[in-house]
Amino acid sequence: MMRDWSSVRADGKLPLAFGLAWVGTLLWFVAWHSLIAADSPAESDAERPEPSLAEAARRWFVLGVGVHDALPRRSEDHPLLLRHFRSVTPENGLKPAAVQPLEGQWHFAVPDAFVAFAQRHGLQVVGHCLVWAKDDRTPAWFYPPGQSPADRQQLFQRLSNHIRTVVSRYRGQMAEWDVVNEALDDGTNALRPSGWSRLCGTDFIAWAFRWAHEFDPNAMLVYNDYRNELPGKREACFRLLRDLREQGVPVHAVGLQGHYEVDEVPYDELERTFEGLRAMGLRAVVSELDLDMVPRSRWWADGGRHREELARWNPYPEGLPAAMLDRQARQYARLFRLFRRYADVIERVSFWNLHDGQSWLNEFPWRRVNHPLLFDRAGKPKPAFYAVLEVLNEP
Ligand code: GLA
Repeated sequence: MMRDWSSVRADGKLPLAFGLAWVGTLLWFVAWHSLIAADSPAESDAERPEPSLAEAARRWFVLGVGVHDALPRRSEDHPLLLRHFRSVTPENGLKPAAVQPLEGQWHFAVPDAFVAFAQRHGLQVVGHCLVWAKDDRTPAWFYPPGQSPADRQQLFQRLSNHIRTVVSRYRGQMAEWDVVNEALDDGTNALRPSGWSRLCGTDFIAWAFRWAHEFDPNAMLVYNDYRNELPGKREACFRLLRDLREQGVPVHAVGLQGHYEVDEVPYDELERTFEGLRAMGLRAVVSELDLDMVPRSRWWADGGRHREELARWNPYPEGLPAAMLDRQARQYARLFRLFRRYADVIERVSFWNLHDGQSWLNEFPWRRVNHPLLFDRAGKPKPAFYAVLEVLNEP
């Protein structure tokens, strides 16, 4: 019998059947899509299939990274960060100029949120730093111009108050504190000339460590500096540490910032430094690692004569050529092979910034597109990532 479509239509059954079919299809479609959406972590896993670097490093040392203070709000950074790192250092938020820019004016909202985020995600935190021993990095109120050594008592009081307030606030929540940053001279003096060394000699370092220890006895306390694996500054660093330890000062580790330049990684000097630290029974941390691919040191050479030329030098705006990616990978691999050999000395290795797009070396000391880290601007692992991973996984 012929179906009378017109009558079916007329009595509304066909539209009803069609309607039901459409709704069914729609529901199925929605369900299927939400299934895919529910599966999206797995999908992004598939997009980011690389193994965790921190996991591979775990049997050697803690792997960390210095990141933007606003980390808790930067959700786009979280997947990469949480996958590959177990320790975080807030880039600026705990420096004296950020925490107490004027005497008695405290700014804790940003570091509080940072530390809370780290705790929620099981990350260690490095407190950086209690003293940055440079005039231009110390809030001016610590030692107003014109102060003489006779005023050192006042400076000590300000320092102890700063350390007590900051360290006790995070007592038990910091794995480490960079107690003093960059106090050593780059020239022939033992200490960098500054209000700190002028008013207090090395005593400000000794007391900073004592107070930090008093207010958080479980934190590992670090003296942090740059180029302190090179002869000269290394000897000064060792002398300082020996002297502190003879006075019974609780200093536990030396931070080697590790801001290296391509083709200039000081492997042998690093090795000597780790040997020396091991002999002294001190720990090492590599605290701010990166490998500048548009090297910066000529900026300071020859009285600054090359600056105009360098300010225009931007050789890799579109990315590193394959040969340079490979060179970077080999140099990072050699570095991590060395770190592995001194894993009994090294507590932690932290990169400085999460990926190439966030590196301070895009701006310092002149603006250029730089590529110093293991992840590119999209957060994708570079050949250096796989080279380091392989070294960490070698039996
Ligand atoms: C030094 C400091 C860091 C950071 C870098 C540059 O190494 O210790 O806190 O400021 O310079 O970003």
